[in-house]
Order: sequence, then C-alpha cells, then structure tokens
Amino acid sequence: MPLTPDFYDYPWKAPERVSLDHRFVSVVWPDGATLAAFDRWLYENAVGVGTDVATREGLMDPAHHGPGSAVVEATLVEDVLEVAFADGQLGRFHPGWLHHVATGKHLASSWLPEAVPWTAADLPAPPDHHGPDVLAGGEALAAWLNDLVRYGLARLRGLPDDPDVGLQLGALVGAVRDTNFGPIWDVKADVTFAGSADTNSTANSALRLGPHADLPTRETPPGFQFLHCLVNETEGGFSTMTDGHALVDALRVEHPEHYQALTTLRWVFFNRGPGLDHRWSGPMIDHGVQGAPLTLRAFYPVRGFPDMEPEDMPRAYDAMAVFSEMAADSRFQISYPFAPGDMVGFDNRRILHGRDAYASGGARHLRGVYIDHDEIRSATRVANRRLGNASDQNAKTSSRSERTTP
Ligand SMILES: [Fe+2]
Repeated sequence: MPLTPDFYDYPWKAPERVSLDHRFVSVVWPDGATLAAFDRWLYENAVGVGTDVATREGLMDPAHHGPGSAVVEATLVEDVLEVAFADGQLGRFHPGWLHHVATGKHLASSWLPEAVPWTAADLPAPPDHHGPDVLAGGEALAAWLNDLVRYGLARLRGLPDDPDVGLQLGALVGAVRDTNFGPIWDVKADVTFAGSADTNSTANSALRLGPHADLPTRETPPGFQFLHCLVNETEGGFSTMTDGHALVDALRVEHPEHYQALTTLRWVFFNRGPGLDHRWSGPMIDHGVQGAPLTLRAFYPVRGFPDMEPEDMPRAYDAMAVFSEMAADSRFQISYPFAPGDMVGFDNRRILHGRDAYASGGARHLRGVYIDHDEIRSATRVANRRLGNASDQNAKTSSRSERTTP
C-alpha cells in the first residue's frame, strides 16, 4: 500500500489508464474523473522522494528542482501509479489519494457545507442542538458544527450551570481566541438601577445594541462568538441576529449605489480603552480575496473616523444608514429571548448581532468566548471526514471532472 502525503485513509479507486503527455501524467478513472498531474508536483508529493516519511511534509525547496524532477515513465502496477523520475528515484501514488485531488476534495472549501443565506422567513429561530450531546462529541458535535458553517448560527440548549463551559467548547474544537477582554468574558448587567451599571462597554449596560459585529478594530475580527446564558431575570432585552449574506445580496440588488459605497469606502475603527490602541481601517462590507469569508465591519461604538476623501462622506453616511436600517428590518432580523443554559454561537464576521433595550430590571449574565473560523472549519472537516457524512453531499467539489494540479 503506497503511503500518502498525509495521515488519512482513502478508499481504493483503481484508475482505468495513465499516460505521459509532455510534463503531465494523465490519470483517468472509470467514473470519468481525470487528473493531469504536473511532474514537479508529483515529485514533491512522492513519499520518500519529495515528502518526508515521518512528517509527511514537503522536503523540496523550490530552487532545488531541476532536470532530475522530470518524469521518465508512468505506469500502473496493480492499480498503483508508479512514476520513474529522471534522477533514478521511483514515486508510488495511492489511487484513492489521486482521485480525491481529481475530484476537488483537497481544496480549502472541501468537507464543509456551503453557506446558506437566510432571511427571517427562512430561519425564524436559531437551529437548536442539545448542549450535553454536542459536548460529548460524535455525530451531535458534527451536526452542530455543520449548522454553524452553513447558517452562521446555531444554539445549544440545556447546558450545565458551569461558567467555564465556553472554554470546554473551545478545547473541543481547537482553541479560543484571546483578546483584551480575556479568553472568556462576561456580559453582565444589573439593570435595577435603570441602566446605570458601572461599565466601560455599551454591552454591559441596559441600552439597546443595534446590529453589529464585534472587534472590527482588528485586521481579522474574531470568526465566531459564543454567548452562554447563566442568568436572565430581565424582561425584554431579546437577542437579535441578521444574516449578512442575505443582507449584502439584497443591498447589491436593491441599492447598488450604497453597495458600491459600503464595499469601497473605508472607516477607521478603534478601541478607546485606557492602555489600548487597536485600530483598523476597512470597508463595512469586505469580501476580501477570493475564497475569503465575508467580513462585515459594523459597530458604531468603536467606529472612529472616515478614511476617505471629504466628497465621499455624504454618500458613505447615507449608505451606512440604509445598511443599518435594513439590518434591523423584520425582513432580515430575527429576535428571541435568552434562557439560562442556552449558548448561541454565530459567525461574528457574517452575522450582525444585537440586543433590544431591557423592559424591566433584574440580573442578566452571559459569558462569551471567541473561536476563529480556522478552528471551526478544521473541526468541521475532521468531523465530516471521520463520519463520512459529508463525503459526497456536503463536500463542495468542482463542477468539472477534469483537474490540473498547480
Ligand atoms: Fe457584540
């Protein structure tokens, strides 16, 4: 059995034929999948040649490729691709591993569900999952992770009265992201005093919090946010959520001039706490480079300065007003109460979250953690690969059956 340049198991996929065409080895499978594998890429990925047997990581400094990396001959030996290189070394390739590349399952987007935009009519409440089952791992954990990636929103219910359950969750999926608020932080208000809680953050008051995304003051704002409710004796103060994908899609169609302003004109966001000088300048709707997740920068308590020409400011303010109004509209925004034992998880860069003002007094105590996209996506891929439940349904594969290696 040839070793693969990783530590996964692959189903055996016997190729139909191979051929050498100039510098590419062409592999064809009976299901129609084909792969055009470039000679230097094959050399780098041959375990024991360009890949280390112990670490399964690449050994080749790109500057060290030369005539020796050329392919002299490519043959199938008992369904295994064997490649003779010009320097005399032999590469052997697992046909299942080659097939997974041919079908796009090596791409960053693979083993993840596609994001599903939603409006209030599509998703009137967060998808619910049983907290203790998710904490136990297995299929319940996989189902919750997939909903987080798909909808950017999922709720755990029935969690224990443990103030550090957010840290347990972080340990389960990867690592929590520490910030100046600490690895786990409190959103705590005793509104007996009509919103006069001693606080340095709007979040810790009884005031309404309009639709927003936390920490746009960072180059990369936290990916996901998890809020665990320990106590809620207040009336009102419902949580609100708006899907940024649906909102941005609607803005693009219904208000193209505002969409243009929101995706190009930049603002400086900054944290003004004593001893802090976090700041970042960016547009409110940031599509990033191709394949990057959507990032919304929208949090008026920390929006500082327009970073644009003076003549652009009127349209920037107009566009921002429409963005904020649409985000709070019942067409897009859902609203629900927090109950003790709930933990609402959401994509902090995609979903705009907020809170209505409290109608009457009482204690309210949430505990929050941030976990970056990288951790959630890695945990989702691992869970889906392990269970095999996403192998063909959820994995986003290329629409083409033919693939050329880079
Ligand atoms: Fe927030």
